Amino acid sequence: MRMAKSIMVTATPLKIRFERFNGDIGIAPAKPPVFVAPEDKPALVERARKLLKERDAVLVAHYYVHPDLQDLAQSSGGTVSDSLEMARFGHEHPGSTIVVAGVRFMGETAKILNPEKRVLMPDLEAECSLDLATPAGPFAEFCDAHPDRVVVVYANTSAAVKARSDWMVTSSIAEKIVGHLHGQGKKILWAPDKHLGDYVRRVTGADMLMWNASCVVHDEFKAQELEAMKLAHPDAKVLVHPESPAGVIALADAVGSTTGIIQAAERLGAKEYIVATDGGIIHQMRKRMPGVNFIEAPTAGKGATCQSCAHCPWMAMNGLRNLIETLEGAPGHEVLVDPEIGRRARIPIERMLDFAKRNMPTFRGSGDA
Ligand code: 13P
Ligand code: SF4
Repeated sequence: MRMAKSIMVTATPLKIRFERFNGDIGIAPAKPPVFVAPEDKPALVERARKLLKERDAVLVAHYYVHPDLQDLAQSSGGTVSDSLEMARFGHEHPGSTIVVAGVRFMGETAKILNPEKRVLMPDLEAECSLDLATPAGPFAEFCDAHPDRVVVVYANTSAAVKARSDWMVTSSIAEKIVGHLHGQGKKILWAPDKHLGDYVRRVTGADMLMWNASCVVHDEFKAQELEAMKLAHPDAKVLVHPESPAGVIALADAVGSTTGIIQAAERLGAKEYIVATDGGIIHQMRKRMPGVNFIEAPTAGKGATCQSCAHCPWMAMNGLRNLIETLEGAPGHEVLVDPEIGRRARIPIERMLDFAKRNMPTFRGSGDA
């Protein structure tokens, strides 16, 4: 049986290459995922479930984390969702502890919105190439050089970068918020994802000055290989996350956030899909649409520069064993945000959540969750 890359056992620490904002290449470590033998899983899942209850904790997971954590979140009263819903769900859940299975910016967003709660993560070193490519100092200088622009930052940034912004957006709401600001005649300073920014600019027509960064996973999808795959699967519909390059987006039948991609598949009703986002999402798609064939979109194959190839190496650092360690109270798992930075960063995040409640009919918001 072919083993998914995200659960391969390897002793070598991964070194992930990413492009810095100034074009230099940075190298960031990612710990290899810890393999859990199938026979050990039931006991580990039960232990984690019991600890979640004892600690009054809720598990908020992203679609890209290992299926074991996705299933546990869903079966224990937590959620598996996109970044927008993760923020909303954690904020409105009554539990005193939020455990975020995802990457650091997701944990920080939860802490900023809930300074009175304990926010824990299985691994605080789970990075994101967009966050890494956007250091707060140079970003503040970029903003200072363009005081006439409204600063809109993607969720995939540090608390300090959010604190310097006017609005935070996620991929499910970026188009709507930028369109709204454009309608008011505002010019935008956008950071960090250049592909998502470019997509939003194309659909809204807004005047957007871009930061330079990209996602190491989505940047590896290639239009030429995708075209070839489409020829081999002529009836398949193509679903693309907007962090992908423009040539890949141009081949899409639907473009959307992770939740948007799942909803599009349900709406389009095809028997086969090619999915251009992290392969972790396919677990949820198979659960919701049994009998439908989901194929991971191609990265560049042999000649590729990618080491992640449609699996985020940092999302893969979340597993059952370090989740249990976290819930057992091991040190080094609590997300902490400087209170003053958190206070300032909360403003653009709440602005987005309020906008979502007013403008997105499917967004649940307080009262109707
Ligand atoms: P979503 O908000 O669409 O889940 O995206 C988060 C992310 O990091 C995608 O790479
Ligand atoms: Fe960041 Fe890309 Fe990983 Fe999403 S998939 S967390 S954008 S590196």
